[in-house]
Amino acid sequence: MTDSNWWRQAAIYQIYPRSFKDSNGDGLGDINGITSQAEYLKSLNLDAVWLSPFYPSPLADGGYDVADYRNVDPRLGTLKDFDRMLKALHRVGVKVFVDIVPNHSSNQHEWFQEALKSAPGSPARYRYIFRDGKGKNGELPPNDWVSYFAPSAWTRTTNPDGTPGQWYLHLFAPEQPDFNWDNREVQLDFMKTLRFWSDRGVDGFRIDVAHAMKKDMSRINASYPKIDTFKVGNKGTDILFDRNETHEIFREWRTVFNEYNPPRVAVAEAYVAAPRRVLYARPEELGQAFNFDMLDLDFKAAAFKKTIDTNIKYAKEAGSSSTWVLNNHDRVRTATKYGLPDGTNLNEWLLSDGTSKKLNVELGLQRARAAVMMLLALPGCTYIYQGEELGLREVADLKHEDLQDPIWFRNVVKKIQPVFMKREGKTIKGVAVVHTEKGRDGCRVPLPWTRSGKSFGFGSGGSHLPQPSWFAELSVEMQSADNNSTLTMYRSALALRQKWQTTEDLEWIRTSNLEVVAFKRLNGWASFTNFRGVDFALPKGRVLMSSGPIKSGNKLPKATTAWMVLE
Ligand code: GLC
Repeated sequence: MTDSNWWRQAAIYQIYPRSFKDSNGDGLGDINGITSQAEYLKSLNLDAVWLSPFYPSPLADGGYDVADYRNVDPRLGTLKDFDRMLKALHRVGVKVFVDIVPNHSSNQHEWFQEALKSAPGSPARYRYIFRDGKGKNGELPPNDWVSYFAPSAWTRTTNPDGTPGQWYLHLFAPEQPDFNWDNREVQLDFMKTLRFWSDRGVDGFRIDVAHAMKKDMSRINASYPKIDTFKVGNKGTDILFDRNETHEIFREWRTVFNEYNPPRVAVAEAYVAAPRRVLYARPEELGQAFNFDMLDLDFKAAAFKKTIDTNIKYAKEAGSSSTWVLNNHDRVRTATKYGLPDGTNLNEWLLSDGTSKKLNVELGLQRARAAVMMLLALPGCTYIYQGEELGLREVADLKHEDLQDPIWFRNVVKKIQPVFMKREGKTIKGVAVVHTEKGRDGCRVPLPWTRSGKSFGFGSGGSHLPQPSWFAELSVEMQSADNNSTLTMYRSALALRQKWQTTEDLEWIRTSNLEVVAFKRLNGWASFTNFRGVDFALPKGRVLMSSGPIKSGNKLPKATTAWMVLE
């Protein structure tokens, strides 16, 4: 029987299904592709995988615009394929999380389509957030609220007779209308979805934008021109984010999770400051919440140490274990981030197609390896994003015509600037559309499985986002045969971690070098990371493994982590 606390210190691997493995050559990764790599997943020594959305979706936001919560996108397979995949992964000892997207649906969801056809004030419209516009003829949005994907959070509808109609709220793209979580029908439908997947044998759920589900629409006349969810205060009374009533939803969900044996597990994506975030992780709610604090850190010892300390403390107070995350499908990959000068504005660098600052490829990888080994030794649960185990870098120079992310399409400004008229040979002033955000496609490029072949073994066809030629040397095939590869390091570190995993306690080890982060677990398993200092003399003991070569005399060079058993 599975221990009901199995998730507290698990290693969980995020699969972005469209970019993992394509079984039918259509350029899109799919469910059978995942099944075909069950042995690969097993070889990583994971506890579970989390699948980003694979549901029917028009892909306005990479699948986070769900048209049917209880089905598989026909381009990715069928429910039968899903069941087969689940069985195959369970057989090799890997549990499965699916992604639940409860804040919004796709505008192609049957409920939203029905709402558009129904009258203002109808029950069909009450499942979403429709409001009349302002101005003489309702031609202005109800207020100044903005969307995460910019600019306005409101889009006007067209009535069935072609006349302009009401507006609806969307905190993300216009193709992602927000649900009305005050509506019992919406609440019940999501519990049906949780049971649907739990009944099939799914072990857990990742809850998308958990902090945004409840809104205080009685304050529709209040201004809200900028989103900064880390600063919404700590009282749970903000208009749009992290409202106290949100927790009632999750307390009810917990009763659903506990209908199963072992209870289903959940992790919140709640993009708010740590003391509020852990409230979602209370045992009577979701149980766990992503700790995103490390995603914003430069590779510096003091910052990591502080983040580790505070997150362990907050998680403990909430009755949960901390989670540790360096990469996901929304962020620039660490192997790139750590190879750029400190404080680099990553968006600007991406907009320059990776040319505005020089990337130190070797250093970036060395640091990414050191960082993940440190994370894997910490008490708590580590999330790993597909491709991280290969040391993949961000693909920074994707061509504009290949980009898919709504963040790229929606963040534009029109600028008056000189335009050269080719035919007439003169320069005039024209309006150019300038994109101000590059978006997240660069970390979502399909994985390279083999060193050659049309899409490096991703599938027999192409790849929905083009892969660069340097993917060859980072392919699974190349790295499997190499004892010093990043893939081999992940496999060994994850295996050792399983062997040494122990109670959730951490003891700091004092060192005189401020660039070294050192700690041990109560069974003697210790981790030393030299961030950027001079070579650090390791204490007496047995080195279990390290993220890079250790110098003679047991000296730990910079950007390296060593695991030891202390004498
Ligand atoms: C989450 C997802 C992100 C998505 C957004 C809207 O932040 O991680 O990829 O765009 O929610 O669903």
